[in-house]
Amino acid sequence: MSNIAFLGMGAMGARIATRLLTAGHSLQVWNRTPERCQPLVEQGATVHNSPRQAAETAAVVIVMVADDDASRQVWLDEKTGAMGGLRQGAVALEYSTLTPSWSHELAQIMSNLNHPFLAAPVVGSRPQAETGQLIQLVGGDLTTLTSVQAILASHSAVIHPVGDATHSMGLKLAINTLFGIQVAALSEVLGLLQKTGMAPSTAIDWLNQMPTTSPALKGIGALMAAQNYAPLFPVDLVEKDFRYAQLFAQTVGTPVPTIEAVREVYQQAQEAGYGADNIAGIAQLYV
Ligand SMILES: NC(=O)c1ccc[n+]([C@@H]2O[C@H](COP(=O)([O-])OP(=O)(O)OC[C@H]3O[C@@H](n4cnc5c(N)ncnc54)[C@H](OP(=O)(O)O)[C@@H]3O)[C@@H](O)[C@H]2O)c1
Repeated sequence: MSNIAFLGMGAMGARIATRLLTAGHSLQVWNRTPERCQPLVEQGATVHNSPRQAAETAAVVIVMVADDDASRQVWLDEKTGAMGGLRQGAVALEYSTLTPSWSHELAQIMSNLNHPFLAAPVVGSRPQAETGQLIQLVGGDLTTLTSVQAILASHSAVIHPVGDATHSMGLKLAINTLFGIQVAALSEVLGLLQKTGMAPSTAIDWLNQMPTTSPALKGIGALMAAQNYAPLFPVDLVEKDFRYAQLFAQTVGTPVPTIEAVREVYQQAQEAGYGADNIAGIAQLYV
């Protein structure tokens, strides 16, 4: 069993941290809003005042926060950043969904300081984090991955080595934008069919029987039919991933007109007040 620091007790982080505790690891936790650490402390974790302090005794340090700015601050803040507390030989893991360029930069910084590092974003949402069914995309060297494989297996059912830190984060954004585009299209066609008098549940029943509807979209269709928009993968995070995919496209110099257009739909959903709703909540734009 390892001594692990987990930084970021958001919806995903808290669930993954709980699985690490249940697996028997010692857990050091920190969150910007300290109250969110309390449930983990009640299960045996030790709370710290800064990422640096949490990292000081850990053999493995995991960060899972909202975006690039948060990741940069948690790792690199001069006074409080985890980097300042990293022991020699400790493995640094970044689970957040970030731009490939920041992921690459962070990997370079770690490499320059001789810290083993993996950029390891996860596919799946809160239910998969809770049940240990995440799919993890790991960018970094295989020796480092082997050293933490058992830790990742406590929350991820499938662990894919996918090249370097740019590759894993690029693939993660590709997966999320592909999914987000399908969900946006589904919400539009559902709106169309409703205008003909077809009940949403009937429309979804038909669409879900067709080979053109992907397994992930079937789940979202069921939520739309039930008007269940309770947050799992909130619209605000979806929009962030589209923004990051757009930045990624600019960096590598390739056009992404569909990603740009669909990002605008998610922005409309935010403007309409649905930012905290699950991704299925964009259906509310068409009712
Ligand atoms: N939700 C999903 O389905 C899902 C699935 C896969 C991957 N992801 C990715 O996983 C990451 C976390 O997602 P989540 O759903 O757990 O989000 P969340 O519930 O909104 O949690 C965000 C976390 O980031 C922290 N944070 C935000 N800004 C910060 C800053 N400037 N400095 C330090 N900490 C900061 C928050 O701290 P406070 O508590 O203080 O606000 C919180 O701990 C994101 O990158 C997301 O894209 C999400």
